[in-house]
Amino acid sequence: MDAFIIEGGNPLQGEVTISGAKNAVLGIIPAAVLCACSSKIENVPDIKDVNKMIVILEKLGAEIYREKDTLIINTEKPISYDVSDYEEETGQMRASYYLLGALLGRYRKAIVPLPGGCNIGDRPIDQHIKGFQALGATVVIEHGQVKMEAPELKGAHIFMDVVSVGATINIMLAAVRADGKTIIENAAKEPHIVDVANFLNLMGANIKGAGTDVIKIVGVEEMHGCEYSVIPDQITTGTYMMAAAATEGDVLIKNVIPKHMEAITAKLSEMGVIVLEEDDGIRVIGKHPLKAVNVKTMPYPGFPTDLQQPMAVLMTIAQGTSTITESIFESRFKYVDELRRMGANISINSRTASITGVKALSATKIRTTDLRAGAAMVIAGLIADGETKITEIVHIDRGYENLQENLRNLGADIRRISEKDPACL
Ligand code: UD1
Repeated sequence: MDAFIIEGGNPLQGEVTISGAKNAVLGIIPAAVLCACSSKIENVPDIKDVNKMIVILEKLGAEIYREKDTLIINTEKPISYDVSDYEEETGQMRASYYLLGALLGRYRKAIVPLPGGCNIGDRPIDQHIKGFQALGATVVIEHGQVKMEAPELKGAHIFMDVVSVGATINIMLAAVRADGKTIIENAAKEPHIVDVANFLNLMGANIKGAGTDVIKIVGVEEMHGCEYSVIPDQITTGTYMMAAAATEGDVLIKNVIPKHMEAITAKLSEMGVIVLEEDDGIRVIGKHPLKAVNVKTMPYPGFPTDLQQPMAVLMTIAQGTSTITESIFESRFKYVDELRRMGANISINSRTASITGVKALSATKIRTTDLRAGAAMVIAGLIADGETKITEIVHIDRGYENLQENLRNLGADIRRISEKDPACL
């Protein structure tokens, strides 16, 4: 029941270093169980979802050592393919579904509870299942568990009906150990898909085309451990870019891949923000008044859905009317009520939010409805007039390492308080 208290109004200034990508490492950690081996993974962020994934693997029998941002995962001794007893951990994150592909690849069997994750709309896993079935698995879903078995795992030609990050990675995880060739068409192209594929290739897999919409995988019999460093987090980078822009700050964001940020850089520039790219850094200088823009979320390389909520906060103080069309998740506007409570002028029509800029947001008590909405609430608190209290920040801890320390170092007045759950009093 921790909460953030933010006294708004300080422009962010200074430098921040971005940690490893959540959505990459959450595919890479399960990938490490694909062989009886030991792998070293660096640039692993200290966030709740990663810590939960580690706990699950340890419960399955993996030996895991962690020092700072380095993780050693040793699965030389066999681990269990049955995750059914760890519903509490799997239910708190989306990425637990990667255990399906990884365990199916290694053991030809997997029992994994249906995943949890942010409540942002209908999130079926039919494309994952379609892929596993194409590879020869029988799939039964009962009592909240996905049960799969594939006496023979065979390469297949799979056409994805929707562009899905999770299904693309999950199918790759199983297909690297299948017999023969798998082709995934209409694959997702996000940077974390390339990162998971690079890790798998270092383990001995044969994957070509990751980062394009056709991925070709030739299954291998043997894989081995490797050493790997996870890419920087695109969404965390975007969050700091938007926080700098919103507070009229001047922030150098280090350890980033500017190419991954192009859709965000383009929109911020359109708003009048100065964005300067360096080799592995981006400097963002906020210039107000911000100009209104229109954004539509799209699969990569389009504008990421995970940044539409932070982007909406910038729009609340831009001059004129901006629109955001959410084309990936239909219920990703739940946070709008919180922004309205701060004085934002937002109307929703189906999947489009129209946001007319106001002079300033006014501080009040708000809550986080999911991970990225949490990041948006923090940015709203940073620019609001007065003291904002943000509750339910457990969502933020799932995906942002050291958020309040980083923001404090940049000059923000933010602190974390612990509160007792009223139900426990
Ligand atoms: C992942 C990310 C999440 C991000 C999202 C889109 C992780 C752990 N989570 O979520 O942060 O917001 O990508 O970039 O990496 N769909 C289906 N059937 C499926 C799978 C997906 O219809 O089997 C639909 C979804 O409902 C959604 C769209 O496809 O409308 C994209 O979803 P997907 O890319 O799979 O998102 P996730 O993997 O859940």
